[in-house]
Amino acid sequence: MALLPTLLLVLAVAAGVSAGEGGEEERTYIVRVDADAKPSVYPTHAHWYEAAVMSASDSSSSGWPEGGPLIHTYSAAFHGFSARMTPSTAAALASAPGVAAVLPERVRRLATTRSPRFLGLLSSPPSALLADSDFGADLVIAVLDTGISPAHRSFHDRGLGPVPVRWRGACSAGPGFPPASCTRKLVGARFFAKGYEAASGPMNASAEARSPLDTDGHGTHTASIAAGRYAFPASTLGYARGVAAGMAPKARLAAYKVCWAGGCFDSDILAAFDAAVADGVDVVSLSVGGVVVPYYLDAIAIGAFGATEAGIVVSASAGNGGPGGVTVTNVAPWMATVGAGSMDRAFPANVRLGDGQVLDGVSVYGGPALEPGKMYELVYGGSSGGASSSSSGYSASMCLDGSLDPATVRGKILVCDRGVNSRAAKGDVVHRAGGVGMVLANGAFDGEGLVADCHVLPATAIGAAAGDKLRKYISSSTKQRPATGTILFEGTRLGVHPAPVVAAFSARGPNPQSPEILKPDLIAPGLNILAAWPSGVGPAGVPSDVRRTEFNILSGTSMACPHVSGLAALLKAAHPTWSPAAIKSALMTTAYVKDNRNGTMTDESTGAIADAFDFGAGHVDPMRAMDPGLVYDIAPADYVTFLCNLNYTEQNIRAITRRTADCRGARRAGHAGNLNYPSMSATFVADGTKATMRTHFIRTATNVGGGRATYRAEVRAPKGCNVTVRPSELAFRRDGQKLSFVVRVEAPVAAARKMEPGSSLVRSGALTWTDGRHAVRSPIVVTVQAPLE
Ligand SMILES: *[C@@H]1O[C@H](CO)[C@@H](O)[C@H](O)[C@H]1NC(C)=O
Ligand SMILES: *[C@@H]1O[C@H](CO)[C@@H](O)[C@H](O)[C@H]1NC(C)=O
Ligand SMILES: *[C@@H]1O[C@H](CO)[C@@H](O)[C@H](O)[C@H]1NC(C)=O
Ligand SMILES: *[C@@H]1O[C@H](CO)[C@@H](O)[C@H](O)[C@H]1NC(C)=O
Repeated sequence: MALLPTLLLVLAVAAGVSAGEGGEEERTYIVRVDADAKPSVYPTHAHWYEAAVMSASDSSSSGWPEGGPLIHTYSAAFHGFSARMTPSTAAALASAPGVAAVLPERVRRLATTRSPRFLGLLSSPPSALLADSDFGADLVIAVLDTGISPAHRSFHDRGLGPVPVRWRGACSAGPGFPPASCTRKLVGARFFAKGYEAASGPMNASAEARSPLDTDGHGTHTASIAAGRYAFPASTLGYARGVAAGMAPKARLAAYKVCWAGGCFDSDILAAFDAAVADGVDVVSLSVGGVVVPYYLDAIAIGAFGATEAGIVVSASAGNGGPGGVTVTNVAPWMATVGAGSMDRAFPANVRLGDGQVLDGVSVYGGPALEPGKMYELVYGGSSGGASSSSSGYSASMCLDGSLDPATVRGKILVCDRGVNSRAAKGDVVHRAGGVGMVLANGAFDGEGLVADCHVLPATAIGAAAGDKLRKYISSSTKQRPATGTILFEGTRLGVHPAPVVAAFSARGPNPQSPEILKPDLIAPGLNILAAWPSGVGPAGVPSDVRRTEFNILSGTSMACPHVSGLAALLKAAHPTWSPAAIKSALMTTAYVKDNRNGTMTDESTGAIADAFDFGAGHVDPMRAMDPGLVYDIAPADYVTFLCNLNYTEQNIRAITRRTADCRGARRAGHAGNLNYPSMSATFVADGTKATMRTHFIRTATNVGGGRATYRAEVRAPKGCNVTVRPSELAFRRDGQKLSFVVRVEAPVAAARKMEPGSSLVRSGALTWTDGRHAVRSPIVVTVQAPLE
């Protein structure tokens, strides 16, 4: 045993080297071990892990950083460690005794729309009843994000009782984050950068802080959405004036900083899950995009399973890859996957053109205005010049860095196409080239989805149809009759119809890993959300932005997720015995699918009716979720049965659940769609032999409505399908009683013969159990896939 430290010392000489023996690149792997498999010769798990890595690697392998090969060790949400090693070492390790799985590190991105690929807009008005109640005061919400700005008034601890006694968390001090940063409101703060630095080298300490301090703004924003205090007046540069409050204003917060300038690394995220479980949090909020890999290779899905088993609700953003199909991420059935909707608030900033046309736009620009009444010359880099000599019309049309010619641009309003660089960065490029304003135009791909941004110059965003009109107007202009226009900023408008709509960027189903589980689960406000912002960061999120604002307006499923995290904390406070699955069920079965015009919610990108692949069970309804009547509960063992029915191997299942699974019984019992989920999704592949295909869903409802109750099934069958429910009446005699039923679905597969090969037909319906007081709604989605030929 004394050999081990010596060996480490020798190996440490080559610290920082990342190419291993034989030129193989080293990378980070996350290794799952069987917790009770540690040979007794090793005093601690860390000793065993180090020895395992060393013996799996060729002994002449490259060195490890000071302190040994381990990056993190995990023991609560997960058992195992992360380490740098070559792929061949990882492969050798995978077959070592006690090793359940070896996962390659992946890098995730924040799910705001500030990143270039996405579109971008709200804050939910918390109901007076929930906000006034003491609900949530003893619960801790973990926010895994970019850290937190601890001194913000949204995180003041005035009037809060002592820190809950069961709290075991810590406050890690560091640059910009003195030990006194933690309070009775912000009860814990930690940071996890070892995985990031192992992959990217030491961080730039003048650009980011090796502490829980938020130098980006995203983490402060999301934390205040989940659990910010009342802050009045709150607005960003004059927009959205009013009270800012999180969903659970009295809940405690714990910040786990896992996202850095270089991204959010799985090994660090897993370390945060592990710490959060050990610290005793109640809810984990994760506004970070996912990856599309099977659950047994997905570190977030595995970490979230460990947290769920410990009774913690995990709420995650669905991602911003919409409006295309199969874009949803963070799709494991034990997580709540949250998409984004709009609120009935808008920030109109329309473009008036020289020929009298007015194009609808949106903006939350705040700062020196354009001259009232003056018409400015409009320039579009894609057609009417404006490109610098060294760049193409294409990059000028996108307003990429360095693409604009200051001599042409000065004093004009630039039209920039959306895409490639971020929306705020385009404003910065135009500003630096001397432009006085910008109109950001969607292309066909972006559709009509708009995000209001706090640009560094007067700017607005317009949809694809308006963008076409604008480009056409500019291309028809001449030297004698130049294209002119101005932007009319109209401030904040309330009572907008229709609302909510599904945000264009919100990621869509079906679920690529298990289509039997409908994802996203639900939507929450995620468009133009006002929430807390750090004092050291400009609202546009570009370095040149020297404006300061206490609140900022951002859009993304990143903003939708913490609404659900805060609500989950309120539900858990009101119903301490409910499992994470019961809480999720309450949120889903009470969600609504109608907008404020009493029509089915629509899709922002097209204006067409949206369906369950867009909004899941619907838009979250906090008041109704408190009293759902029935819940569909799921125990950890049920997920094992589910994984068996996905045909995962026992080794795969063990990587997720730490349990040895015997799948024989489970496979006999049915199919993955029989997980007791609050929604139902059936996929049929037409094989051309039968006219109709059938499936069934077994569900068990638990009565949480407070006593005797009789529920009747109301079915709205998906068009062309037959749905029957047996029994069609559930008579509960007492609270907590469980009753099961079967839903049979028949779909007309014959229709698929007329479809394009490989295309699919989606039909939505619903099953609603009602007792006169509650309506417990589950979407039923039927997908018929035409044969590939
Ligand atoms: C570190 O960040 C500072 C401030 O943003 C920047 O000026 C400097 O160039 C960066 N250094 C490196 C090595 O990237
Ligand atoms: C909404 O529409 C439904 C039918 O689609 C109708 O029964 C109901 O009365 C309407 N509600 C309102 C408030 O208009
Ligand atoms: C699992 O395998 C069985 C038998 O081969 C098959 O019928 C079933 O469709 C498979 N399930 C999934 C989810 O792939
Ligand atoms: C639905 O039921 C009717 C009556 O039993 C039957 O004629 C029809 O074919 C069924 N449709 C499907 C899609 O199975």
